[in-house]
Amino acid sequence: MSKLNVDESSTANRLLLPPLSADRRAALKESIKQEGQRYAVIFNKNTGKLVDGGHRLEICQELGIDPLIDYQDLTEEQEAFLAISLNRDRRQLTPEQMRELAKQLRSEGFSQEQTASALGVYRTTISRWEAGTPSAPDLRVTIPSEQYYDIYRKVKMDGAKQSQIAANFGVSPARITQIVQSVESSLKSEHKRRGIAQRAGEGLPEGIKLLEGPFGGPLSHEVQDASVSLVLTDPPYGREFLPLWKDLGQFAITKLKEGGILAAYSGQYMLASKLSALLEAGLEYLWTLGVVFTGGQNNVFVNGINVLNKYNLILLFSHGKPSSSVTSIVDLLQGFQKDDKDLHEWAQPVSESKYLVEQLSKEGDLVVDPMMGSGTSVLAAHSLARRAIGFELDHTRFTIAKGRIVEALGEK
Ligand SMILES: C[S@@+](CC[C@H](N)C(=O)[O-])C[C@H]1O[C@@H](n2cnc3c(N)ncnc32)[C@H](O)[C@@H]1O
Repeated sequence: MSKLNVDESSTANRLLLPPLSADRRAALKESIKQEGQRYAVIFNKNTGKLVDGGHRLEICQELGIDPLIDYQDLTEEQEAFLAISLNRDRRQLTPEQMRELAKQLRSEGFSQEQTASALGVYRTTISRWEAGTPSAPDLRVTIPSEQYYDIYRKVKMDGAKQSQIAANFGVSPARITQIVQSVESSLKSEHKRRGIAQRAGEGLPEGIKLLEGPFGGPLSHEVQDASVSLVLTDPPYGREFLPLWKDLGQFAITKLKEGGILAAYSGQYMLASKLSALLEAGLEYLWTLGVVFTGGQNNVFVNGINVLNKYNLILLFSHGKPSSSVTSIVDLLQGFQKDDKDLHEWAQPVSESKYLVEQLSKEGDLVVDPMMGSGTSVLAAHSLARRAIGFELDHTRFTIAKGRIVEALGEK
């Protein structure tokens, strides 16, 4: 097969894969700034080409962050396939751009099956495009997210027919219904976030302390040494946050009582370094828990292998021999509903936190989350009659966490 040039800087890529819109690029930048780089930039070590992640690379450079890079051993065919399939997901190509790209791939010798698979559409869709038959709805044809609100407005405010909009985009009416519902739900989330943040000025329930700032600085003195039974946390992802694991280890060994437990969501990236940081702090390794993703899977590329990652990891460590009050735990967690994504993009379900708090501490114990985000673990601890302390660096998230906890108490 002849080579398809999909280098980020190549003409083909520039023409076929339009750059991210300013809004989406700004959102990506903000997320990398706050949470770190979730997905590695991929280079093909055989051709030296940048296969995926041009925007992430640029943003990391702008932010002065050392980017997470994966050099993969790819054939030219794999390189093209990967670049296109990943870009398809990230850039949300319009049906027109998809058709153009299909033409390009087919002229480079890709079969209909390969083209369909790279573009994420059915093979019959490719065949219809080639035959010039009006495109029947294909649920996997993407509509750019920038157009969602416009579609919502047309349906809800202008009374446009969903079937007509569906025909214009070449998707099924069900897809338009889905889009309208997703806009409705994000408008509701925004409303909820604002309402909750307004309540942050009210008093907190007894037994809860929330601290705005880094857990490793002077604020750490707000937690008495050797007073904590459970440190439950979900640190941000990304290589630039790796040093946090050293701080976390130090914090846990100092603040945990003898027998206290650290439970930390870790993901798989740089796992060995995370484990080493905790061991070096003097904590003892206990076990890992798997948390099955409720909403499908992440596509992760690890040295040329496409890993369909279906679970997250929680690392369990202890300060010395675990307390006798900790007697059992199931090591595969699944079925917990993601209920609070409205408040924080990476929020973990409260029910999952509750399970961990219940198994790993007892009533009256002190539970601390040094990186609480929207405050899920603090909320779980409080609802199970534990005392809780949460730290959060980011002001907006801190306000949301505080408002959320005040509101949850009001509902009791
Ligand atoms: C993955 S999020 C936690 C999400 C949380 N589990 C939830 O359910 O909402 C990690 C959080 O750690 C915060 N963070 C990062 N570094 C921190 C630090 N040094 N001290 C306190 N918070 C920090 C980030 O602002 C982010 O909100």
